[in-house]
Amino acid sequence: MTTNAAAREQKVREALSEISHIATLPEITMQIINLVEDTSSTAQDLQDVISNDPALSARILKVVNSSFYGLPGQVASINRAIVMLGLNAVKNIAIAASLAKLFRGGDLTPQFSAKMLWSHSNAVAIASKVIANELQLGLGDEAYLAGLMHDIGIMLEMQYDRNQLIDVVSRTGPDINGVPANDMLEVEQGVFGATHEDFGRGLCVQWKFPASFAAVCGHHHDPMTAPEEHRRIACLVAVADRVAANIGSCYRLDLLSTEIPAGAMDEIGLTEHLLENLIPQIEESLSTDELSIS
Ligand SMILES: [Fe+2]
Ligand SMILES: [Fe+2]
Repeated sequence: MTTNAAAREQKVREALSEISHIATLPEITMQIINLVEDTSSTAQDLQDVISNDPALSARILKVVNSSFYGLPGQVASINRAIVMLGLNAVKNIAIAASLAKLFRGGDLTPQFSAKMLWSHSNAVAIASKVIANELQLGLGDEAYLAGLMHDIGIMLEMQYDRNQLIDVVSRTGPDINGVPANDMLEVEQGVFGATHEDFGRGLCVQWKFPASFAAVCGHHHDPMTAPEEHRRIACLVAVADRVAANIGSCYRLDLLSTEIPAGAMDEIGLTEHLLENLIPQIEESLSTDELSIS
């Protein structure tokens, strides 16, 4: 490991230990993850845990009933949701619902707020899922969640040191069209001593998330550098990130250019023509399926 990489890792550890009270997933989410990973668990076990949290139950039902899942008729109970979608999908919805809570934090500057980043993350999640489904990548909701999480390192920066993030945003200097003047990752490196890719990857490790999420968070700006076994999902989210920026998602502070990184399309088997055909579907889904932050 180079001195630079070691220093960045040290910085991530320092930040995570300082904000450990916020940088933890809610207890109930951890319980759900553990339960679903335990092969002896039943749908009833999952239902029992979720029923303890009415707010989470309500949120899950809202997501289940969104057009995103295309289920016939209204699903009124968690039990039914589990039957219709399976344990794994419900687990992923619970994680997504927990993530929403981490994106609270108000306006930082006129160019950046937690809400803008949440909208952007939703757009990337939706684009990731639409593209993954079309290409039959077999990723299921993992594509959606990876998209939702890819920039989570920025929220970690916000909670670790708000003023430093304000500094990063102003030095990155988006113009009136939201096009950044400088490379946010370089600016972050100068201000924080690490980038949102580093912070995001560190958070995934701390949360014991699958290694694919750490790869996406840690490599979405340069996806061909992701470990080979997770390169495909990193490329998928990198493509979705640029697509979301191009179709008017209000945040692109960390993208100097919206050009798709070389090799990423080939890695997932996507052509320009197919992508163009998918844009209307992504736009349609964006208008109806954003998870609410509250
Ligand atoms: Fe990013
Ligand atoms: Fe992004």
